[in-house]
Amino acid sequence: MMERKKIITGDGSVSLHVPTLNETYHSRHGALTEAQYVYIQQGLAFWHQQTQASSVSVFEMGFGTGLNALLAAAYAEQQQLSIYYETLEKYPLSPEELSWMDYDQLLKGDTTTQIFHQIHQCSWEVTQAVSPFFELLKKKMGVEEYASKTLFDLIFYDAFGHHAQPELWSTERMQKCYELLRPNGVWVSYCAKGSVRRSLQEVGFVVERLPGAPGKREMLRAVKSESCTFEKKA
Ligand SMILES: C[S@@+](CC[C@H](N)C(=O)[O-])C[C@H]1O[C@@H](n2cnc3c(N)ncnc32)[C@H](O)[C@@H]1O
Repeated sequence: MMERKKIITGDGSVSLHVPTLNETYHSRHGALTEAQYVYIQQGLAFWHQQTQASSVSVFEMGFGTGLNALLAAAYAEQQQLSIYYETLEKYPLSPEELSWMDYDQLLKGDTTTQIFHQIHQCSWEVTQAVSPFFELLKKKMGVEEYASKTLFDLIFYDAFGHHAQPELWSTERMQKCYELLRPNGVWVSYCAKGSVRRSLQEVGFVVERLPGAPGKREMLRAVKSESCTFEKKA
């Protein structure tokens, strides 16, 4: 069990700090702002705009506070997009830590509080419909032991930073991500590290460096596509 402390980030939203790793769950500049920009705008909405599909499957590495899941569920409702969302967590939050998470209050949607409550209340290892457009499977396990017969359209890669958990950013791990995606699937992360970008390219992704969330220079988006029109950047 990791010791975690509550912090308030730059946009007023809460996050957690892990003293032993000297790592935070989100950007100190703004947890909500970063999650909305990296995973929803540059990930989910990007994929949705490209495909105009009516359903999508998302795999998240690192469920944590449930913020990405909540934002994806809110997007699903707004856009009437059916989402199957599978997420892994090795070190779930305690009930006390969960009580600190007030993202639903900040988002202020009609059904947001109910959805956020359900995202956390629903059992691990069971697929459940959290809302008419959002199906969730939370798995209490490490990504190292994870195997799936399901292929995904999108991966939200939200591990702790490379300095804290380098093994989760290895070429081998990126290869697993590649194998988990359908053709034209998209991997997205706040991470902008050069070695991670090179690993993604090495396993076959076409990688884009995008402007980062406020306070961060860059982030990465990678597409599993042989005929991708994006320019490969050195
Ligand atoms: C940067 S935090 C992001 C959390 C989450 N996406 C959120 O918005 O709160 C990284 C998360 O990965 C989890 N984690 C760390 N090592 C893991 C592993 N080996 N397998 C699965 N999850 C892991 C941590 O416990 C933490 O919840």
